[in-house]
Amino acid sequence: MQNLIINEGYKKGVDLFYGAQDERIFTKNKKYIDLSMCAGSILLGHNHKVFKKSIAKFISKKISNIAAPNISAKIFAKNIKRVVPNSEKIIFCNSGTEAVIKSLRLARAINNKKKIALVTGGWHGSVDQLLYKTNKKLKPVKLSSGLPEETYKNLILIPYNNFKKSEAILKKNRKNISCLIIEPIQACLPYENVGKYLKFLEIFCKKNNIILIFDEMITGLRTNCSSVQNYFNIKPDLSTFGKCFGAGLPIGIISISKSVTRKINKINPKVFFGGTFSGNSIVTFVGNEVLNYIIKNKKKIFKKINTNSKYLQAELNKFFVSNNLDLKIYRFHSMLRLVYTKNSIKDRASRDFLELKKNKLISKFKDYIKNKNIYIPSSGIMFQSYSHEKKDIDYIIKEFKKGSLKIFKK
Ligand SMILES: Cc1ncc(COP(=O)(O)O)c(C=O)c1O
Repeated sequence: MQNLIINEGYKKGVDLFYGAQDERIFTKNKKYIDLSMCAGSILLGHNHKVFKKSIAKFISKKISNIAAPNISAKIFAKNIKRVVPNSEKIIFCNSGTEAVIKSLRLARAINNKKKIALVTGGWHGSVDQLLYKTNKKLKPVKLSSGLPEETYKNLILIPYNNFKKSEAILKKNRKNISCLIIEPIQACLPYENVGKYLKFLEIFCKKNNIILIFDEMITGLRTNCSSVQNYFNIKPDLSTFGKCFGAGLPIGIISISKSVTRKINKINPKVFFGGTFSGNSIVTFVGNEVLNYIIKNKKKIFKKINTNSKYLQAELNKFFVSNNLDLKIYRFHSMLRLVYTKNSIKDRASRDFLELKKNKLISKFKDYIKNKNIYIPSSGIMFQSYSHEKKDIDYIIKEFKKGSLKIFKK
């Protein structure tokens, strides 16, 4: 229970991080190649020159934070719409969690229905209504104590990328479902046919007055300066973003589609969105400066991070196959995860089941990699940034090869 309450990093004796530059993070004693990049929030690298300049500009222009509608938020919202063309309205929040909570609230206000359909395998932050995983029978299993009973009662689980089962469950419950929320791409899962699955959800939701929410906290901006919805040409009703848009500062964003905006304008629901730091000037100003740079340089930025990621994946998978190791790297653009089995996995539950058997070896491997000064976050999701160089990737490949042979070769 302790780990659930207090961050693991604060256990006694842990070498705490104090800073970072480019692709490295530092503790007092060590420098690591960072494969977390602030849980996928930093696309350019730590303390990138554009980030530093924008902070200096913020100070020299005496912008400060004003808890009132401000010009920085307005400009940033306009710019976000350039990379999320389906967006008509933007609501700023302070975290991804807050954006998800408020989008669930907005959905309920629009159609006045109770139930939430949650597609399994994703993560949506510290949201009471969604802090569940699934068991084999698709029943919700709590991920935290302290969750109110109604959250369990109102939750319907839909198996990710499983057309037949998803359709059957949705049909049975469609009249009561307010919204369906999905993390459209999950780093650790294969995504063949996901485009078709997402299209099916879009059509089903539209037909049945269900608000479709894409949680693109990770994939927003990281997907070639755009999003998964653009990549697959889907128009979700609401989308939640954050991470890269904040350039390493805390942010959450709700994007409301054109069609839902029209609906809202008709029914005019009273939905509370406010907060002291919602749309604050520091995050929106810095986020906008960094976003401008990313848009301007998108070709070279995404070419580099995607090429490095592809190379890392290809080299390691080739090695795992030729050495008959039961491992496989999955990747979507610049996010990767080592899955500790080469067996086919169709969803998160099947991955967890196969990995569970190897827990001890996995933790040995993670220790090995950390000892080689490579930092992988506990989720196992590895993010590339524009600051990672080919030599870093070669070093990671070398150590992953050595470590996997040492620990997993039978
Ligand atoms: C897909 C997704 N949704 C929501 C969240 C929650 O965002 P935050 O940690 O900013 O509250 C996360 C965070 O990792 C996420 O990956």
